[in-house]
Amino acid sequence: MRLAVVEERAAHETRVAATPETVRKLAALGLSISIESGAGLTSGFPDSAYSEAGAEIAPSAADALAGADIVFAVRLPEARGAIKRGALVVCIAAADAPLAAQLAQADLNVIAMERLPRITRAQSMDVLSSQANLAGYRAVIEAANAFDRGFPMMMTAAGTVPPARVFVIGAGVAGLQAIATARRLGAIVSATDVRPAAKDEIKSLGATFVGVEDEESAAAQTAGGYAREMSEAYRQKQAELVAATIAKTDIVITTALVLGRKAPRLVSAAHVASMKPGSVIVDIAADAGGNCELTVPGQMRLSPNGVKILGYVNWASRMPVAASSLYARNLLTFLTTFWNKDSQSPVLPDADPIIAGAMLTRGGQVIHPELRPIPSQAA
Ligand code: NAI
Repeated sequence: MRLAVVEERAAHETRVAATPETVRKLAALGLSISIESGAGLTSGFPDSAYSEAGAEIAPSAADALAGADIVFAVRLPEARGAIKRGALVVCIAAADAPLAAQLAQADLNVIAMERLPRITRAQSMDVLSSQANLAGYRAVIEAANAFDRGFPMMMTAAGTVPPARVFVIGAGVAGLQAIATARRLGAIVSATDVRPAAKDEIKSLGATFVGVEDEESAAAQTAGGYAREMSEAYRQKQAELVAATIAKTDIVITTALVLGRKAPRLVSAAHVASMKPGSVIVDIAADAGGNCELTVPGQMRLSPNGVKILGYVNWASRMPVAASSLYARNLLTFLTTFWNKDSQSPVLPDADPIIAGAMLTRGGQVIHPELRPIPSQAA
């Protein structure tokens, strides 16, 4: 079997789906691996490192993809026409129903890694977690860089510099890493989240929990481990509490996401106006539209009262060596989990919860229940 990896061509994308380390392990499964020349460069992996690991270097994406039975990618490859019909494509597909229909028509069997269920067995393949963890760290580093004062309390002969106050909104994987990183830098940290479990997680990292505690918040997590969309009344109460906290905060880091939806708007223009000049907002949710009303995805913006709002997108791509290493391991773990040694090929049972959650298309059909065409459209 042949596995191909091509250069990622999406804007802001610096990651790659296989590293020399994972190529070695994929080759040990019996796969022959072809990597498009230059695919790993932005992640610090030159062609020579891949060939030493046992890969063949292909001069173009089409050459790498020719005859490949399996394609590993970060984003859904653009050069889909060059992928063999019936191939398995493992990536962050971010597909809606029309795109899923196109993939089925091209007879690609697509695994969307962002749809893995949040079950223990899938943890080591969980690309959202591995990438969000890095994003949370990087958000704090960027905040510290943009902040003109410094994070820790500094007592000097010339006087004392107070510690920065950091408020993290959304304490999932990214938010918890942001809390831990900000604490390590010496900031005074508080955080909020709608999931009831987050309260103890926030406190265990030494941060203060800021949150509305009512019946709705007690039921805010789906069985799959994702946050539910909250009611208008809840969001109003939360906004008031958030407002009071933001006004006293130097740095706000927002990470609140609801799977498959636009990011909830949690920081309004009025909240930004209440902050001191020189404060910083880092909006990791900018990819999904942003948690802050003033965020411009992809840019750093200065608010009228001098607050810096960092709306960079694809945060994991800002540290591509670590991001690619973890992402590539997630994909390797996925494939080895479903690898049949006797047939030297992957076996993907429909009934397995990982496959049921992540497989979009198979045998020319859209099989994911959330993406299947509704009967009237199909007719
Ligand atoms: P995410 O990236 O979907 O969302 C980030 C955070 O924003 C979440 O904690 C969410 O509750 C929060 N949020 C959403 N709406 C909000 C609002 N209106 N206000 C404040 N916060 C809001 O979530 P992520 O980070 O991918 O995972 C969340 C949790 O899921 C983890 O902390 C963990 O407990 C669980 N998880 C379990 C895994 C497993 O068992 N395999 C793997 C990964 C996560």
